[in-house]
Order: sequence, then structure tokens, then C-alpha cells
Amino acid sequence: MTEIPETFRAFLAGSPAVDRFRRGVRDAFPAADLPDGDVEVRIEWSSVNYKDALATIPDGKVARINPIIPGIDLAGQVVASTDSSIVAGQQILAHGSDLGVARHGGYSEYTRLPANYIVPLPDGLSARQAMAVGTAGFTAAMSVAGLESRGLRPGDGPVLVTGASGGVGGCAVAMLAARGHEVWAATGKPDEEARLRSLGAAGVVPRDEVTAESQRPLESGRWAGAVDTVGGPTLPYVLRTLRTGAAVASSPLTLQPVWCGGPVPRRGSTSARSVSRSTTRASIHSMGRTVSSPSTGRRASAAGRPTPRRRPPRGSTSSRSSSAGPSS
Ligand SMILES: NC(=O)c1ccc[n+]([C@@H]2O[C@H](COP(=O)([O-])OP(=O)(O)OC[C@H]3O[C@@H](n4cnc5c(N)ncnc54)[C@H](OP(=O)(O)O)[C@@H]3O)[C@@H](O)[C@H]2O)c1
Repeated sequence: MTEIPETFRAFLAGSPAVDRFRRGVRDAFPAADLPDGDVEVRIEWSSVNYKDALATIPDGKVARINPIIPGIDLAGQVVASTDSSIVAGQQILAHGSDLGVARHGGYSEYTRLPANYIVPLPDGLSARQAMAVGTAGFTAAMSVAGLESRGLRPGDGPVLVTGASGGVGGCAVAMLAARGHEVWAATGKPDEEARLRSLGAAGVVPRDEVTAESQRPLESGRWAGAVDTVGGPTLPYVLRTLRTGAAVASSPLTLQPVWCGGPVPRRGSTSARSVSRSTTRASIHSMGRTVSSPSTGRRASAAGRPTPRRRPPRGSTSSRSSSAGPSS
């Protein structure tokens, strides 16, 4: 028994024939072409993510089915469910996994999902608001929560956000500022300064500064915390300029990652030596996991709530250690 109409509207992208990539709204997408799932959802909102843009172009290298309904996240109302924990009428969201990548996503009026994709919408959060935050905002929130769970408090000092004009970076700037932190936005776009300040940035750092090479393994400790959304040269910069005991939350695949999915820096390299200041790196994964170094025993829960830790005294170098988590 299905509550999904036989056909409905959906945005579709792909190549129906070799050399003929097409994208656009199809008025009568057949429900029979949706994948199986325990839960049927009438979709109300989805966000626009960089990944969604890639799914709509030839050689975007994101879509693993053809054609695809893009949309890596969605929010709406359950119209039918075979899972006892999820009921018709419930407001829910779903994001990540293979949504909009290897499974039809949110740019559609209806979908079917496995029960374990479903996140009930908390009271007070509408479907529209949830998707205004979107996966990029969720990643930023995970980053901020990761820093605060490692001891960052308003008043501790300046907090750096790299790639600040981007989706994750802009949300991180706004969230950190709203929580009372002094945020500095690193950007390669000088004309974004006014917008970044309107989001709450106390100041702007030119991109050149945060991507500069240095022979020095450590520089004077400037940042009380950092959200690095870029990677490549920015992570070594962040690590060598963090204050003692500070943490960096990294979600960087924008440039070639230093550690995310790549090799751990070799012993004696700039990155490896920077870590000797006893910093913490948290790899932020948009599926709701924060991963710290297994060797420190500080692995976070899969629900995105890092194991609570006592805050070390200021200047302590003994209670935090470096981590090179797996890919975010
Ligand atoms: N969006 C998500 O939902 C999500 C979820 C999990 C992980 N991530 C990862 O987080 C990272 C950021 O994602 P995003 O969606 O925020 O991407 P985005 O909107 O494209 O922003 C990336 C930002 O990086 C900066 N940048 C670009 N090229 C650069 C370069 N050559 N050197 C230095 N900085 C450069 C730019 O900011 P400035 O011009 O301001 O410097 C750009 O706006 C990506 O690696 C992504 O894979 C994203």
C-alpha cells in the first residue's frame, strides 16, 4: 500500500543518451522509479549544496546513478511508514548517506527512504528552517559544537574560519558570532568583507596569509580555535598558529587535503611538528560524526556528541593531544 501518487513532479539530471546531458523538471516522474524504502515522504524543502550543483552537470563526478534526482538533504512529512517508530503525519528530515548521489534525493515532491535515514524534526524547527540550515549549516554547527566541547568559550580569544565566504565557512562565522565568539574570517574575496562583517566577523584575514608556506613549525599562538573548511595549505597554517591547548575543526576537501583521506604527515614535517603544541584536530563529517584520534581515547559518539571532557587549565599542554582523524 503506497500513499505516493503514481506520478509527481521531480527535477531530474542525467544523460538519456550518450552526449546528451539534460536537466529540468519532469512533470510526471513515475513513483515506480523510486527506490524501495520503509518510509514514504512528501518533500517540502531541500537545500542547494555545492554537491547538488555538481550532480546537475556532465562530469560533475558526484552522481552515481543516471538519471538522478539531486538534493543531498530534504525535509517534509511522512505519508506512510512500515517502521513502527515512524508514523504518518510526522515532520522529518534526512540528509547525507547516498541521498542525491546514489539514491534519488530531495528535489522531488515525494520519495521513499530507509527508516534509518529519518531524523524527526525537533519541536520548534520547521521543515523550511531545517533546510535553510541545510547540510552546510549542519557541518558548521558540528564544527562549532566540536570546538566548544573541547573547551572553547566566548572570551577565550580570536577564532579563525577559513573559506569564510563559502557555505560551511559563512555558517560557521554566523554561528560562532551568535554564540559570542570573536570570529575572524579568512577569505580570498575582498568584496565579501561587508557581508562577512554583517554575519558577525570581527575582522577579515586575507587568504594569502592563511595559505602561505612557512619553514617555521610553530609561530606565535594567535588563534583560540579554528574552523578550517579549505585544507591543503590552510591546515598547516592553522596548526602552527593555534594557541596552546586550542582545537581546530576541519571539514576540508576544497583543496587537496593534508590529512583527510590522505597520508598522515611524516614525522618531522611541518604539519607533524606543529602538532607538538598539543592541539586537537576534529574531523567534521556531515553525517553527524566527529572523529578524534583513537589513540587519545576521545572518540565522539555517532550522534555527534563528543565524549564530555573537563576543560584543562589555561596554558596546560598535557591534557590535549593531536589527532589525525580519518576523512571527513
Ligand atoms: N557543504 C557541505 O554540506 C559540506 C559538508 C561536509 C563537508 N564539506 C566540505 O567542507 C568544505 C567546504 O564546503 P563548502 O560547501 O563550504 O564549499 P564552498 O561553498 O565551495 O566554499 C569553499 C571556500 O573555500 C575557499 N577557497 C576556494 N578555493 C580556494 C583556494 N584555492 N585557496 C584557498 N581557499 C579557497 C573559498 O572561500 P574564500 O574565497 O572566502 O576564501 C570558498 O568559498 C569542502 O571541502 C566540502 O567538501 C562540505
